[in-house]
Amino acid sequence: MEYYPLIDLHCHILPWFDDGPSSDDEALEMARIAIQDGITDIVATPHTENGLYQNSAERVTEAVERLQRKLREENLPLRIHVGSEVRIHVDLIDNLQTSKTATYCNAKRYVLLELPASQVPLFVTDLIRELKAASIMPILAHPERNRILQAEPERLREWIKEGAIAQVTADSLAGKMGKRAQTTARHLVVNNLVHVLASDAHNSSNRKPQLREAFRLLERLTSRATARQFLLNAQTILAGNDCKRQDFAG
Ligand SMILES: [Fe+2]
Repeated sequence: MEYYPLIDLHCHILPWFDDGPSSDDEALEMARIAIQDGITDIVATPHTENGLYQNSAERVTEAVERLQRKLREENLPLRIHVGSEVRIHVDLIDNLQTSKTATYCNAKRYVLLELPASQVPLFVTDLIRELKAASIMPILAHPERNRILQAEPERLREWIKEGAIAQVTADSLAGKMGKRAQTTARHLVVNNLVHVLASDAHNSSNRKPQLREAFRLLERLTSRATARQFLLNAQTILAGNDCKRQDFAG
């Protein structure tokens, strides 16, 4: 199966925003790597509200427009879209509804959420319910990297039944994020606990924006139909269309 076009829903490509690239040149190099891999669209998802980084929707939108202009000047055929990776916290919904925090394409339909690395806050289930009630679909970033979920991956199923979508990271599947992340990532894809694949790239050296190899791996672990569905799910999210329950089941 030839995977094209590829959409990267989780990528730290904006320079100077977080622990991603620290120059325009490196952001452009990331763009070249992505294009080479067959990626046509990247959602820029800088960290925000995690205690270290605070990146408003307004600031992200301006930087996306700026990077898009640079890509055009360099004749690089890649579309960049607005997004953010928001650490879950109690004021999250207010910040999304008032447009302080960026959702996917500022459409208030989908948002990428980051769990803490080593715990699962008690309010996660309530937060998912409240987001759904506000018609904003939560996408949980790389559950395979959370230590609690590595020990008990099936805990994710409850959140998916509540309507959350889950994103697995390409490098986790390939084993580049450690053995535990890889084992968990494989469990999640084989047991229908994740729905989209993204790079979570941070640079042009050891965390690159590449997806093609991971899609091949996903197809080997599951089926061609499942890999195809992951691609369609990314298109649905980027377009801000309604997600059908059967496509995002757990
Ligand atoms: Fe990330």
